[in-house]
Amino acid sequence: SKLQLVDKHIGVFPDFPKKGILFRDICPLLKDPAALTASIDLFEEHVKKNYPQVEFIVGLDARGFLFGPLLAQRLGIGFILVRKKGKLPGSTVSVAYELEYGTAEVEIQEDAVAPGQKVLLIDDLLATGGTLFAACELMRKQQAEVLGCMVVIELKELNGKDRLKPHSVFSLVRY
Ligand code: PRP
Repeated sequence: SKLQLVDKHIGVFPDFPKKGILFRDICPLLKDPAALTASIDLFEEHVKKNYPQVEFIVGLDARGFLFGPLLAQRLGIGFILVRKKGKLPGSTVSVAYELEYGTAEVEIQEDAVAPGQKVLLIDDLLATGGTLFAACELMRKQQAEVLGCMVVIELKELNGKDRLKPHSVFSLVRY
């Protein structure tokens, strides 16, 4: 099945980027055309069935950029970038979030979304949910309507899904 094809192309590296972390790697998925197509097919099916009203796909820096534009193009809608702070020109809006050590900040261009526009967020992976939560906050600041979040991989034990409530999270594979 498409799901098995996706699952088979997720790499795993113990102790990266540091000891005790089991790193899930999407590089094999991107390298295999059939597996990459399967992943976008699955996202497309989910969106067409559940969120036919979606107006934009919003992708997270950096690996959300690998899947978001492919999906947006399939759906015939636009793609918006949520970037790490300091990368976007013009007027921007940002939201800070906690990391294990210190804080980070995500940013969009102020005119990226208009009030009431319906968006779906996409990233490669959901861990603690901090990054997607901050991106949802950005959407809320701009009064865009978040229909849901989508990821290729969900790491269940980190409870990112709870962090994102009441927003729904759709994941292709869960570990
Ligand atoms: C990773 C991943 C997600 C985020 C998930 O990105 O691609 O964006 O972490 O973690 P969270 O659910 O705990 O927030 P990373 O911060 O490594 O940035 P990168 O994509 O630019 O490498």
